Amino acid sequence: MRLLVTGACGYKGSVLVPKLLALGHQVVAFDIQWFGNFLTPQAGLTVVRGDVREVETIDLRGVDAIIHLASVANDPCGDLDPKVTWEISALATMRLADKAVRQGVRRFIYASSGSVYGVKSELQVTEELELAPITEYNKTKMVAERVLLSYASELAVQIVRPATVCGLSPRMRLDVSVNMLTMQALTNGRITVFGGDQVRPNIHIDDITDLYLYLLEHEDIVGVFNAGFENLSIGDIAERVARVVPSEIVVTPSNDPRSYRVNSDRLLATGFRPRKTVDDAIGEIVAAVRSGALKQDDRWYNLRWMQKGMAR
Ligand SMILES: NC(=O)c1ccc[n+]([C@@H]2O[C@H](COP(=O)([O-])OP(=O)(O)OC[C@H]3O[C@@H](n4cnc5c(N)ncnc54)[C@H](O)[C@@H]3O)[C@@H](O)[C@H]2O)c1
Repeated sequence: MRLLVTGACGYKGSVLVPKLLALGHQVVAFDIQWFGNFLTPQAGLTVVRGDVREVETIDLRGVDAIIHLASVANDPCGDLDPKVTWEISALATMRLADKAVRQGVRRFIYASSGSVYGVKSELQVTEELELAPITEYNKTKMVAERVLLSYASELAVQIVRPATVCGLSPRMRLDVSVNMLTMQALTNGRITVFGGDQVRPNIHIDDITDLYLYLLEHEDIVGVFNAGFENLSIGDIAERVARVVPSEIVVTPSNDPRSYRVNSDRLLATGFRPRKTVDDAIGEIVAAVRSGALKQDDRWYNLRWMQKGMAR
């Protein structure tokens, strides 16, 4: 297939694109490259440095499917400039879907977020629950989902609400919980946990990227799917890290009330199975740091990089 992957140079995209190429797909990797480009040039890959807000610059001729990952990709970054966040994460998604329909693209896979649920008292968060997004980031994801679903009669729309992703990528992120706590243990011998009791779902980067491949293979699986397989408290994650990298765990008060267990039974019912765990991610990061393959860098922290004015 010929695929357009937006946000292809990001944390997920940098793992996903090589997998797509290995399967023989032709990939156009479209990204503004705020955090650089770590994709290795190879046959079948075209890298385009571009901005999804300029939809007229996106060539959709011959594209069979779009995997849309481009977004201002966490809560604090989304709050930096809400107008930009809405333009990139919501408006550009609408314009891309609209252009896709007009140009005959038939498939659209969208990276939403498990954070669209907001604070839930239900013990199991399923796709049927009402969405109550809190931040600009969560709100743009909810709106983009709804816009995409309005095109469902013309496009096969496959929406994933991923849990927090963990594990290694050539374009690393150390601002996501498992990765961040593991790096703290390795660099300081100390892990600082805010609150500690909030339960959050997790998914390994190999599983979330395999899920996009799986959806690509299964055009009939349409709609909205949670994707989170280990619901763990932040304190529990810290203890798992400390078992591998002996460290002191310091608990400080948190003002983040979000605590939820995501239920991914709808996805599991389609036949998809995750292969990896949070413990795998911790082990892989520890090995990468100890071998020198992964080093601290402000680039791996989205907010820090954007606040330094480097994301441009
Ligand atoms: N990482 C997670 O834990 C997680 C969890 C749930 C959902 N998601 C979603 O998955 C997607 C990918 O996340 P990620 O972790 O790879 O984030 P990331 O920040 O590493 O990647 C996002 C990419 O989008 C690009 N981008 C931003 N604005 C753009 C624009 N205007 N035009 C073109 N490209 C643009 C950036 O340069 C970056 O390479 C995002 O939509 C994110 O919201 C991520």
